[in-house]
Amino acid sequence: MKLGLNYRMISDWKEDCGMRVLVTGGAGYIGSVVVSQLVAAGHQVVVYDNLSKGHRESVPPLASLVVGDVGDRATLDAAFTEYRPEAVMHLRPD
Ligand SMILES: NC(=O)c1ccc[n+]([C@@H]2O[C@H](COP(=O)([O-])OP(=O)(O)OC[C@H]3O[C@@H](n4cnc5c(N)ncnc54)[C@H](O)[C@@H]3O)[C@@H](O)[C@H]2O)c1
Repeated sequence: MKLGLNYRMISDWKEDCGMRVLVTGGAGYIGSVVVSQLVAAGHQVVVYDNLSKGHRESVPPLASLVVGDVGDRATLDAAFTEYRPEAVMHLRPD
């Protein structure tokens, strides 16, 4: 059936296009919306946030959270090694 075929094609597209994305500031106001949209689109998301203003509860269950500061090279390196992001969205202030 045409509808079934279209549905399968959309599912395949999501699987093929899902990317590993690291979002700095992803627990913040803008970041949490971006992260939810990425997860809904089928991407694998890791939030990198020091929680100075963001909230752990804002991170959707399907996303991972690394609590760290973007100025902390060791924690950032460890996050990149573990999650191997293909894209980074930098949403923290300044
Ligand atoms: N809120 C708006 O209406 C709006 C509009 C346009 C642009 N922006 C821009 O979007 C970006 C995010 O804004 P927001 O409103 O979501 O701010 P926010 O404070 O809600 O979110 C920022 C997040 O970054 C985290 N963070 C701060 N310093 C960090 C650091 N050193 N290392 C790791 N994480 C850190 C905070 O804990 C927080 O979760 C900013 O650059 C802002 O200028 C915001």
